Amino acid sequence: MPRTREPKPAQAITVNASERQLAAIQRAARARGMSPEDYLLALHEQAGAGEAGAGGVTRPADEALKRPKVKHRRKHGTIYHGDSRALLDKVLEPASVDLIVTSPPYGLVFKKSYGNEDADQYLDWFRAFARGFRRVLKPNGSLVIDIGGAWNRGEPTRNLYHFKLLVMLCEEFDFKLAQEFYWWNPARLPSPAEWVNVRRIRVKDAVDCIWWLSPSAFPRASNRRVLQPYSADMERLLKRGYRVKPRPSGHAITKKFNRRNRGSIPPNLLVAGNNESNSAYIKYCQKHDLVVHPARFSAAIPRFFVRMLTDPGDLVVDPFGGSCVTGEVCESLGRRWACCELREDYIAGAKGRFVGERERDDAGPSGGAARAKPYKVWTPALLEADDDEEPLAADGGRARARKARAQP
Ligand SMILES: C[S@@+](CC[C@H](N)C(=O)[O-])C[C@H]1O[C@@H](n2cnc3c(N)ncnc32)[C@H](O)[C@@H]1O
Repeated sequence: MPRTREPKPAQAITVNASERQLAAIQRAARARGMSPEDYLLALHEQAGAGEAGAGGVTRPADEALKRPKVKHRRKHGTIYHGDSRALLDKVLEPASVDLIVTSPPYGLVFKKSYGNEDADQYLDWFRAFARGFRRVLKPNGSLVIDIGGAWNRGEPTRNLYHFKLLVMLCEEFDFKLAQEFYWWNPARLPSPAEWVNVRRIRVKDAVDCIWWLSPSAFPRASNRRVLQPYSADMERLLKRGYRVKPRPSGHAITKKFNRRNRGSIPPNLLVAGNNESNSAYIKYCQKHDLVVHPARFSAAIPRFFVRMLTDPGDLVVDPFGGSCVTGEVCESLGRRWACCELREDYIAGAKGRFVGERERDDAGPSGGAARAKPYKVWTPALLEADDDEEPLAADGGRARARKARAQP
């Protein structure tokens, strides 16, 4: 809300801010039609005078929100039932969390509207969580958000909400983007059918964005914790040996490339199917007639980030806990954890992840690597194009082609 200007200040205070911080404050103030001074004052008032924690504004999301209830305790962690804004504001200590790894509801659940309005609505909703994340994260901790894209209603264009979320987190909440990841789920079915299967004007959307953010440019991390087996090509090269020479790209291939390490450094494309159809969780839900969470992420996703970004004993939080995949992964990896979920029926099923003896949930030396099969990815556009195919539709597929209509 724009504020009226106070008379010229009698005194000035000096605040040491980097150019980037200053620019972020100015941008956020401009976006609200405020001066930077008024914007800072508004933040100060929202923070409840003097409550600022580790580098973040700590305004409680809503005083009326109840503290989430403890629903289940394990050796290393707890499932809470309730609104995680209250967990972030009232339960967790400031600067206590090493990693937040989560998959929030996607923008498409904001069904009322679409286009920019949809994205803006999502950002407004997310702000209270972002403030909470800033409050509870350690300065060198990490925030990992798995977020799927969404299509705008009625046309083959993509909503920008997840990119806007990333920009908002960096510009308004001073997170830094450590790296963007992409989760390719090969089991994803083609959709939306109208654009992909019927009109054939878009391809399968099979990738989620994963934003790895941190308050620090140097969050604690080690890629040695997430090595993967060498590819067949790399194995061959290691056996035969590399020729030491500069590459056309300018990269120097030195003798070091011939050294066999424990494995290869993974790319920022994570491949994991969401094929939990036979798991103890699903069996538990079926046996007890409980709802199976419809939007789970693969355990491989939190496992990767928990291993890369935390040590045993560190605290990991999933504020959109769902079926508590994150809790299950952390329990098996010996990290302390807290999952919070709004819906009690999802929590009832999540308890199934912790009944009976658990296998070590770790694709490590206990056999995961030996059992796993690599995914194959083809070179793009490998098959010859069909020369008999009609020319591209001048209207970009706005109208259904007759031929397309006849196809299944
Ligand atoms: C995409 S799902 C997460 C699924 C989870 N990663 C899994 O694999 O089971 C998002 C979850 O956030 C929950 N949720 C939405 N708003 C919430 C809030 N304010 N506090 C806690 N949970 C919330 C939803 O009920 C939903 O179960």
